[in-house]
Amino acid sequence: MLCQRHIWVVLALCLLLVLWQCFRAPTDGLGPFPWAPSLFDTPAVHCGASTNSSAWFSARYNMSMGLLLTGAAHELSSDVVQWWLVSQGLGRSSGLFPGSPNLMWDTSRCRTCAVVGNSGRLKGSGHGLRIDAHDWVLRMNRAKIPGFELDVGMRTTHHFMYPESAVNLGPNVHLILIPFKPLDLRWLTSAFSTGELTHTYMRVKQFIKADRNKVLILSPAFLKYIHDNWTQRHGRYPSTGFTALLFALHLCQQVSVFGFGADSEGNWHHYWEKNRWSGAFRRTRVHDADVEFSIINRLAAEGRILFYK
Ligand SMILES: *[C@@H]1O[C@H](CO)[C@@H](O)[C@H](O)[C@H]1NC(C)=O
Ligand SMILES: *[C@@H]1O[C@H](CO)[C@@H](O)[C@H](O)[C@H]1NC(C)=O
Ligand SMILES: *[C@@H]1O[C@H](CO)[C@@H](O)[C@H](O)[C@H]1NC(C)=O
Repeated sequence: MLCQRHIWVVLALCLLLVLWQCFRAPTDGLGPFPWAPSLFDTPAVHCGASTNSSAWFSARYNMSMGLLLTGAAHELSSDVVQWWLVSQGLGRSSGLFPGSPNLMWDTSRCRTCAVVGNSGRLKGSGHGLRIDAHDWVLRMNRAKIPGFELDVGMRTTHHFMYPESAVNLGPNVHLILIPFKPLDLRWLTSAFSTGELTHTYMRVKQFIKADRNKVLILSPAFLKYIHDNWTQRHGRYPSTGFTALLFALHLCQQVSVFGFGADSEGNWHHYWEKNRWSGAFRRTRVHDADVEFSIINRLAAEGRILFYK
């Protein structure tokens, strides 16, 4: 009897601890589950240990590549502008977004990052706690959390989007704009102020709720670098997911990748969708999903990322 009561007390304490960890405000750079990796026997990646670069990797990876658009867009080299410019004027974000790029450029410590794609293969994965155990949790586009916590986790530190995939964000989350086209910069400014821009090639969110101090704009030069050196000009530009993954690969010492690729039955769809054929667009050539997927597999094989399938 006494023994049984003890078990209940221990269980209740465990539950309390888990709940406390879950609802504690997430802070940048501090995972809420510092003890979790050992519990879940995550394969060890040793920060700072020198990894031998394969020829394949070093032909592509450029450590000194700038990731963010800082201040003056006119500093972009002409070949970048040429690739990126599509007949629209260069929007200027004009000091509306103070987000200092330096705030996260400290690579001296061991930063662990989870890049969470939206693939249906996350459904039933039970990866939630493992995802939340990372310092940074990167999500993208219309990622949904409520109702999917067990499989996708609860924390978000960085959310990648473009105007056509924009969603409102909670406090303390970095909005990372991927400016696929110059108009996207104008949209960002508009969505945080006048709301004057309501259409790009389709209707877009007029206003967005997010912390403007945490807005970061990815550099078109970084997109071009992914396009040239990684996907090697397959597709018109890299997908949001692949871009987020490479972002992590340049800023994190350990990168775990979740929710990329088709589900176990070979279907492409989002984990929150019932319709498993709704992802058919991924077969178009805007992004080359097959090329991106083979690069992800190669990065995993070379120990650069932990790929959770
Ligand atoms: C890197 O590769 C070289 C030659 O292949 C080898 O001698 C060296 O021990 C390797 N270093 C590490 C840290 O694996
Ligand atoms: C990337 O691509 C450019 C242009 O094709 C090339 O000059 C460069 O050496 C490549 N590699 C790296 C690591 O940037
Ligand atoms: C790496 O990126 C930097 C900054 O954009 C550039 O100056 C340098 O040439 C690149 N290295 C290679 C090998 O392309």
